[in-house]
Amino acid sequence: MEFSTNAAAPEKCRSDCIVVGVFDGPRLTDAAQAVDRASRGRLAAVLGRGDLPGRLGSTLLLHDVPGTAAQRVLLVGLGKREEFGPKAYRESVQAAVRALNDGGTGDAVLYLGTVPISASDDKAKQRDGAWAAMTGVVVAADAGYRFDRLKSKKESRKGLGRLAIGTADAAHKTAVARGAALVEGMALAKDLGNLPGNICTPSYLAGQARDLARRHKLACEVLGEKEMEKLGMGALLAVTRGTREPAKLIVLRYRGAARKDKPVALVGKGITFDTGGISLKPSAEMDEMKYDMSGAGSVLGTLEAVARMRLPVNLVGVIPTCENMPGGNAIKPGDIVASMSGQTIEILNTDAEGRLILCDALTYCERFEPDAVVDIATLTGACVVALGHVATGLYSNDDGLAQALLEAGERAWDRAWRMPLWDDYQEQLKSPFADMGNIGGRPAGSVTAACFLSRFAGKFKWAHLDIAGTAWRSGKDKGSTARPVPLLTTFLMDRADGTARPRGRSARKA
Ligand code: BES
Ligand code: MN
Ligand code: ZN
Repeated sequence: MEFSTNAAAPEKCRSDCIVVGVFDGPRLTDAAQAVDRASRGRLAAVLGRGDLPGRLGSTLLLHDVPGTAAQRVLLVGLGKREEFGPKAYRESVQAAVRALNDGGTGDAVLYLGTVPISASDDKAKQRDGAWAAMTGVVVAADAGYRFDRLKSKKESRKGLGRLAIGTADAAHKTAVARGAALVEGMALAKDLGNLPGNICTPSYLAGQARDLARRHKLACEVLGEKEMEKLGMGALLAVTRGTREPAKLIVLRYRGAARKDKPVALVGKGITFDTGGISLKPSAEMDEMKYDMSGAGSVLGTLEAVARMRLPVNLVGVIPTCENMPGGNAIKPGDIVASMSGQTIEILNTDAEGRLILCDALTYCERFEPDAVVDIATLTGACVVALGHVATGLYSNDDGLAQALLEAGERAWDRAWRMPLWDDYQEQLKSPFADMGNIGGRPAGSVTAACFLSRFAGKFKWAHLDIAGTAWRSGKDKGSTARPVPLLTTFLMDRADGTARPRGRSARKA
């Protein structure tokens, strides 16, 4: 889908379709009123017949409305005026795109963002026209996303090809461009997540990283197992022992700010398939463990978005990636390995593998002298039990970093919820034979996994996002959600906007 802005008034807008909102009541929005006036009361007449949609998400498509330049007018129900917030706005955009995707409309202009969306003094909750423009683009692309590249016969459907945000404010052009960049990053993350384990292997991810680097002139380095051995990455190498696919450590660097500016490092769990290893998982729904590289996908997706936006920030992406398989050479419960940090680990459960590859990647990050490190991982089933599919679990050793991530998630509607990292939980990781065990027992499984990682993140500000419940949807609409690409990208946009440098010095890359 292509995205732009259109400054025309709704009634004068030339396009296949204009989209205007109607509140419950029904009550016309300003844009709908403009259409009503131009058509000499055509909408009022529809209202009189009781056909005007007010209920959130309902739609009505009108053709050849007199006095208007567009071929069609799509009316979208926005629900109750007092309840119209970010969730309702998103749902109304979704409904519009779904309604249009099945018809002959090739291009449409959205006039839904002209209504104020829950104005609030709270900075995190502020949603202005720019927010509505960017969100409209992202939600529309999300609703139109398909993954059919592995079907031999593609669904023949033209669908909506171009979408414009109806706004006369020139500043909203930047918001739409940023939205379009985020859309590309999310599409990359989704595609990688949806690809099966026999295609999306560690080597495939490395190839994707190289492509990304070529597209955006990033520095890219891929370490193999020999190099990891030299670095002493005994924990990462332990996980990959059971498979024939070679493990990789992918390192990408984007430089948008001055060389002296300390980078943010994003570390993504890249288990391209998690069988559990010798602590084998039950077979039901094991196919979903192809998504166990979603953290890695979100790092690549965020880099794609940030590079397209040319944000003035320095960013490092680190992706430890391998398969977790049983095999004659696989690690066994009770095995003890030494991590790159020197700390030793008793591997009591080979299915708690994510923390083993991440701990060495975190230690590796020390060399970048990062301002902050954020790791992203489909780490624990316990996080799904705690927060379901709504919130990502957030852990951090720094309140400022935690707050910035929470606020970014709130604005991007890709929300996280902070969980405790108290020392009391560290007790559960004690091992009689090594410095620590790799599991902490049944209670607070998501917390003890984060506590394990915290032992490798003492040298920098660090946050951990457990995305086990939010990175993909199960059931009949199963698929990757690209979360937390919107959260991470918004977090980096905030940093860029807050630390804007003079022009000319800002758009350089590594
Ligand atoms: N990749 C899984 C976590 C997971 C499970 C994500 C279910 C999404 C849905 C991770 O590697 C894992 O297996 N974790 C174990 C840890 C346990 C052995 C301490 C888990 O959550 O069961
Ligand atoms: Mn596992
Ligand atoms: Zn896993």
